[in-house]
Amino acid sequence: MAKKYKRGFTVGTFDMFHIGHLNLVKQAKEYCDYLIVGIHSDEWVMHCKNRPTVINYEDRAAIVAAIRYVDEVVKNETRSKMEAWEKYHFDVAFIGDDWKGTEVWNKIEAELKSVGCDVVYIPYTKGISTTQIREKLKDASTTKIENK
Ligand code: CTP
Repeated sequence: MAKKYKRGFTVGTFDMFHIGHLNLVKQAKEYCDYLIVGIHSDEWVMHCKNRPTVINYEDRAAIVAAIRYVDEVVKNETRSKMEAWEKYHFDVAFIGDDWKGTEVWNKIEAELKSVGCDVVYIPYTKGISTTQIREKLKDASTTKIENK
């Protein structure tokens, strides 16, 4: 069946690739023929989150590029979706629905609409995130396992 959109775009860090990431790109690909995924550079993550990634950019990009739903991976170093649109001319942008109705994304929606690009909110996978994995690893490394 023909898909609703031709070129789709989404962006993220995709550090320690997990099921929430997979669900996002899988569902995004159901809407478009060609899915472009922007991956934040290590420097950009440091700038925005003030913490280093666990997995470096080259490896994160290689992992995402190997996912069958992903057609192209590009490096991202901007918050601006319009800047990304100028480069890649997608007709739909995807984001987790945890952002739906926020001031930031209402503004992005309006900007993208002016160039004929839609925004589709993909259901966020509850109970998992890179931050949660980091916390679990921290707990695991400090939990003492008693010998029986
Ligand atoms: N995402 C999702 N479900 C999750 C986690 C992420 O749908 N459980 C989506 C986000 O909405 C985003 C994309 O995956 O569109 C990339 O998210 P990213 O920030 O790289 O992953 P997180 O696990 O949310 O990372 P962090 O905890 O560092 O914010």
